[in-house]
Amino acid sequence: MTTHKLFLLPGDGIGPEVMAEVEKIIALMNERRGRPFEIEKGLVGGSAYDAHGVAISEDDMARALSADAVLMAAVGGPKWDGVPYDVRPESGLLRLRKDLGLFANLRPAICYPALADASSLKRELVEGLDMLIVRELTGGVYFGEPKEIVDLGGGQKRAIDTQVYDTSEIERIARVAFELARTRRGAVTSMEKRNVMKSGVLWNEVVTRVHRDEYADVSLSHMLADAGGMQIVRRPKQFDVILTDNLFGDLLSDIAAMLTGSLGILPSASLGAVDAATGSRRALYEPVHGSAPDIAGQGIANPVAMIASFAMGLRYSFGMIREADALEMAIAEVLESGVRTADVAAGGATASTAMMGDAVAKAFAAKL
Ligand code: NAI
Ligand code: MG
Repeated sequence: MTTHKLFLLPGDGIGPEVMAEVEKIIALMNERRGRPFEIEKGLVGGSAYDAHGVAISEDDMARALSADAVLMAAVGGPKWDGVPYDVRPESGLLRLRKDLGLFANLRPAICYPALADASSLKRELVEGLDMLIVRELTGGVYFGEPKEIVDLGGGQKRAIDTQVYDTSEIERIARVAFELARTRRGAVTSMEKRNVMKSGVLWNEVVTRVHRDEYADVSLSHMLADAGGMQIVRRPKQFDVILTDNLFGDLLSDIAAMLTGSLGILPSASLGAVDAATGSRRALYEPVHGSAPDIAGQGIANPVAMIASFAMGLRYSFGMIREADALEMAIAEVLESGVRTADVAAGGATASTAMMGDAVAKAFAAKL
């Protein structure tokens, strides 16, 4: 049996607290499944800065590159507000994204029935919701050149950001979306603004061609991104996989997140190119939330987002679909049973981070 190398980066604030709960799940799987995972741990963010003076050391970068998957919790906090820009905690995450070539960001919006009343929408609109936003992460207007503020004189300035996409960048993100749709309900909705943006015209053209030539078994529809935003709020359950660019994906994924309740439950994955040597895809799994300095050290953070991020790793990096399903079901069951951390307790009794993690591990063990 192959051993998968996991590289754990707990980071700062509540990071180590929620990562400890994932380690319980990994230990359980190692015990029951003949040690599928080998773990290494490193430092990222402010904790790496304190130890090495940089947000991630070269040594840890090398270990991230040789791992089969990286699990990261969160970085940052007021303690490091004054550190130089180049070594600020977030720069560790940016370096990981860049060096691992993580061009595809996966943000699921899943509504646990137990939390449907915490949604900003009515229960019937979100109950059973399971959509996945696939956002292009390394191109588009956040990176395009020219990018500058020009002084025009006379007190006037001009700010320029440039949206740039090449055919190959659109092809590779489209393939990720179609591949994922095949493992789900087989439907991709591509969102751009071809009515006012040249990049939208090319996006639409390339996605249509990749679909026709390689993924005719998947259904494809197109929506203008603004209309798509409306539809996500109006009738979210119509979507399976949404494929979109960096800018629209940033907005649409945050909107979709709020349909499902607390930040403390939202996972994400970022996938990179297929490694020529190993044939596997580089990947980083992390919760959507940050280091939550306001509650760090109190043992009350919700570990669900971090555990659900690991479930995505089981699904997308290791093909352990049955185990991923079991872990996600275990989370849903525990929430349903009323064991919940303060952020999702809605006035009921509150569980600590460790109690929540133990309950999920126990429910998961019963399904393994
Ligand atoms: P945040 O996500 O850390 O916290 C926002 C609010 O949600 C806080 O009230 C927090 O207590 C709550 N919250 C977050 N995660 C939770 C959990 N698991 N359980 C219960 N409650 C939870 O965002 P914020 O406050 O804007 O940023 C705090 C620090 O985190 C900053 O230094 C920021 O730069 C960093 N950050 C890091 C990210 C990353 O590592 N990917 C992402 C977002 C922020
Ligand atoms: Mg955002």
